[in-house]
Amino acid sequence: MAKTIAVLGATGNQGGAVASFFNAQGWIVQGISRSASSASSKALISKGISVIEADVDDFTTLVSAFKGAHVIFAVTDFWAPFFEAYPELSKVSDRATGEHALTIEVRRGKTIVDAATKVLEEEGILERFIFSTLPSFKEQSRGKYTYAYHFDAKAIVSEYLKEQKALWEKSSLLNMGFYTTNLVKMGSLMGANKDTNGSKIIWRRTGTNEAVHPFVVPDDAGIFADLLVRSPPKQDLLGVSEMASYATFMNIWSEVTGVPSEVEQGTEDEADKAIPGGLGREAAESTSTSAEFGWGKHLVLPKDLDPKVKTTSLRSYFENEDWKPFLENA
Ligand SMILES: NC(=O)c1ccc[n+]([C@@H]2O[C@H](COP(=O)([O-])OP(=O)(O)OC[C@H]3O[C@@H](n4cnc5c(N)ncnc54)[C@H](OP(=O)(O)O)[C@@H]3O)[C@@H](O)[C@H]2O)c1
Repeated sequence: MAKTIAVLGATGNQGGAVASFFNAQGWIVQGISRSASSASSKALISKGISVIEADVDDFTTLVSAFKGAHVIFAVTDFWAPFFEAYPELSKVSDRATGEHALTIEVRRGKTIVDAATKVLEEEGILERFIFSTLPSFKEQSRGKYTYAYHFDAKAIVSEYLKEQKALWEKSSLLNMGFYTTNLVKMGSLMGANKDTNGSKIIWRRTGTNEAVHPFVVPDDAGIFADLLVRSPPKQDLLGVSEMASYATFMNIWSEVTGVPSEVEQGTEDEADKAIPGGLGREAAESTSTSAEFGWGKHLVLPKDLDPKVKTTSLRSYFENEDWKPFLENA
């Protein structure tokens, strides 16, 4: 009989990829959304994925949505609470918005863990709980960088999960690398832009041009969730499609698109000046920690779990994207 996976964030990047992957493998997919009638939910339903309404702020709805699942995939959204609060809290201090979003993400993450624990206790059929997390960059940078709240918040939830002994025995962690889509989706201030005479694309990044980062095509989240279902529990997996420096990333992009590009080295202070109130610094310190300290030797790589696993290469990701809208607006 087909097994069931409950997917939180099924209308988003990571959850959407996981839902599609397992649906294609013949699993019963219980997508979870705050609204079953949204356009994104309807798109899932049209693919044969059911959508159950639940809210991570409402424990009871989550428990109902997780019921019957052999696997639960869960992701939390740091950025929605961040951007909602940013206009007001960025006036208070450059830490206020990050601290606020961290508090909400930790609370929601713990609610998800508690709901999964309850369902495991009540039903005993849960085989794997996968939490999409990130390492603490405060710890990874040995206290040098303390503004990467979206990393540190998820790491607090992972530690809480490890304390829930029965659930942890059935769990694994997925640390998604830097999305390849950030090139476009980080917007005009943080993403890449045309230079002043429009002849090339410039991406201003902290860290040296030689530093290597884990890039992930968000759609590969399905491949990583599958790896974690097939592997023993208690894995801490780096979800990486390809390791590359930003310079290599952009060189490949230029080779594919034929558009010249350059990565300019910036500083955290410049990023803070460009986007004050904590946002510029949060993004810059994430890249700086990755460049100077890496993501942590404790993380396993996809190939460690399955030497034959195939992730999407940067070249193939670039080849399959339509770059026209980006180039018109950059
Ligand atoms: N950008 C990067 O490079 C990068 C790298 C690694 C990790 N991340 C992390 O990825 C996370 C976001 O994941 P994503 O990109 O998959 O998300 P996304 O595409 O922005 O979608 C957010 C998802 O969260 C769901 N959601 C939001 N609030 C909810 C609530 N109260 N109750 C239930 N569901 C809720 C939404 O569902 P509905 O709207 O349908 O309810 C939606 O499916 C962030 O925390 C970020 O830090 C980003």
